[in-house]
Amino acid sequence: MEFTIKTADPAKLKAATLVLGAFADGRLPAPSAIVDAATEGRITRLVKHGDLEGKAGSTLLLHELPGIHAERVLLVGLGKPEEFTDKAYRDALAAAAKALAGSPGRDAAVALADVELDGRSLPWRLQQAARILADGAYRFEALKSDKDKKGGKARGAKKLCLLVGDKLGAELDGAVQQGQAVAAGMALAKDLGNLPGNLCTPGHLADTAQALGKQYKFDVEVLERADMEKLGMGALLSVARGSHQPPKFIVMEYKGAKAKARPVVLVGKGITFDTGGISLKPAAEMDEMKFDMCGAASVLGTFKAVAQMGLPINLVGLIPTTENMPGGGATKPGDVVTSMSGQTIEVLNTDAEGRLILCDALTYAERFKPECVIDIATLTGACVVALGKIPSGLLANDDELATELLRRGTESGDRAWQLPLWDEYQELLKSNFADMGNIGGRYAGTITAACFLSRFTKAYKWAHLDIAGTAWVSGEAKGATGRPVPLLAEFLIGRSRAKAV
Ligand code: BES
Ligand code: MN
Ligand code: ZN
Repeated sequence: MEFTIKTADPAKLKAATLVLGAFADGRLPAPSAIVDAATEGRITRLVKHGDLEGKAGSTLLLHELPGIHAERVLLVGLGKPEEFTDKAYRDALAAAAKALAGSPGRDAAVALADVELDGRSLPWRLQQAARILADGAYRFEALKSDKDKKGGKARGAKKLCLLVGDKLGAELDGAVQQGQAVAAGMALAKDLGNLPGNLCTPGHLADTAQALGKQYKFDVEVLERADMEKLGMGALLSVARGSHQPPKFIVMEYKGAKAKARPVVLVGKGITFDTGGISLKPAAEMDEMKFDMCGAASVLGTFKAVAQMGLPINLVGLIPTTENMPGGGATKPGDVVTSMSGQTIEVLNTDAEGRLILCDALTYAERFKPECVIDIATLTGACVVALGKIPSGLLANDDELATELLRRGTESGDRAWQLPLWDEYQELLKSNFADMGNIGGRYAGTITAACFLSRFTKAYKWAHLDIAGTAWVSGEAKGATGRPVPLLAEFLIGRSRAKAV
């Protein structure tokens, strides 16, 4: 997707599709009003007659309007003016993106960013527009044999021009580039998430990291089983025992700031397929456990976005990755393993494997003397029960870091919601045979999982994002979402701004 920003008369603009907003009460943003005047009030009449539904995100395609130069107009509902929120704005953009993706027009001019929105600047509106419009064009067709027939390649706008009033400048270009970079990161995260377990193996994640490092010139190192043994990563290796795929530990280092600036460290859960191991999962929907590497995918996607933006920060990415399989050599319930930290763990349930690979990565993170560490993981089904599929779960040992992440979530539209990490929960992890068990019983599964991780993060400020509910959608639209790349990218953009002043 190619983007440009333009100030132009929308009535005179040549484009296959012109995208205009309209409020439910007939009020029109400036560009729509210009086209309305040029077409002798057609838009006003259509809205008045109810041809465009009232809610934000409804669409109406109009062909060959007289008096304007665009071939067609896509009218997008903005909802009621008094209810025009971030969400309504995003809904309108997402609807426009969907309609454009299915339309035969190859280029479009979008005049949605020029609508006033409470507390949101033009750069913010443009960044969101670029991201949502680019993301809306995403398709996963790598594994379809007849790509054109499926419609993805032959249709859809590939060149988008964002129409604004008269305030062109470097800041606006930068905002659009940010939006595009985040969408590119999301697309990588989605591609990896959607790729099935037979293709998206630990080796494939390592190859992807290496290719990304080569493209954007950052350091990538891949540790093999023998390296992990030397480091004493007994928890991570215990998960890999049932698999025929060799586990990998990926280390990425992006250096955009001075060498002595402490890095943010991102740690992503990379279980390329989670059968549950000997504590085998039931068959229903088990295919969705190919998405159990979406934390890892979000780290790779965020690296892509950050490198494409060239952010002046130091960033480290750690990805412990393996399959979780049953087998003759697999870890058994009751086995006790020793983590890299030296703490011993009784593996009471081999399906609580994410925390086992993460804990060794979190110990490894100490060597970078991090500014803070954020891990991202499809960690618990309990998180989906608690929060549904709207926000990611957030737990942290530092309230300021948690607050910052919550705020960046709201800004990016990729939200998180905090759960408590109180000491009272820690006792649920008691084991009779080791320093701790790897499960905490029936209650508060998301919190006890984070409590487990907290025992390995005492050396630094740390936050944990449980993306079990947000990393993919099920049902008819089954597929990876690319979340929480927008949240992480927004967080890092914020950190880079704070550094600049
Ligand atoms: N990958 C799963 C978590 C998961 C399950 C994410 C369903 C999304 C949908 C994780 O490894 C897991 O199996 N967790 C267990 C933990 C339990 C054994 C304490 C779970 O949530 O059931
Ligand atoms: Mn599991
Ligand atoms: Zn898992």
